[in-house]
Amino acid sequence: MKLIIINGPNLNLLGKREPEVYGNETFETYFPLLKAKFKEIELEYYQSNIEGELIDKIQEVGFSYDGIILNAAAYTHTSVGIGDAVKAVLTPVVEVHISNTFSREEFRHHSYISSGAKGVVLGFGLQSYALAILSFLQE
Ligand code: DQA
Repeated sequence: MKLIIINGPNLNLLGKREPEVYGNETFETYFPLLKAKFKEIELEYYQSNIEGELIDKIQEVGFSYDGIILNAAAYTHTSVGIGDAVKAVLTPVVEVHISNTFSREEFRHHSYISSGAKGVVLGFGLQSYALAILSFLQE
């Protein structure tokens, strides 16, 4: 099984960025732990701060991979383009958020991704990514 985690803007700053919301761990230290936990999965990771690059990556992997785990970060709440890309591809997309976006500001309550996603996991810190991977294993 081949899965990819795609992270959007500012998630390259995990560990430094608002640690009270997003924790102290960087994704670069968490990703190898995830790979070790799910050895049977071919797991890739991609991050970009640029909307079009995220769309390009979704299109690139979206007809051949078994799953996309997408944290579009702030673009979740603004990007019709990423929402359309999620709907355009054949690979199922699980939307992930580290924080519970519904317990935060109102503008974070709407997602352009959710309607095209297979499911949504949010609010469990970095563990949200592990739970999203598990959802692909339990089919
Ligand atoms: C986030 C939530 C978004 O509202 C925010 O803009 C992010 C991160 C999360 O993982 O909790 O950058 O997607």
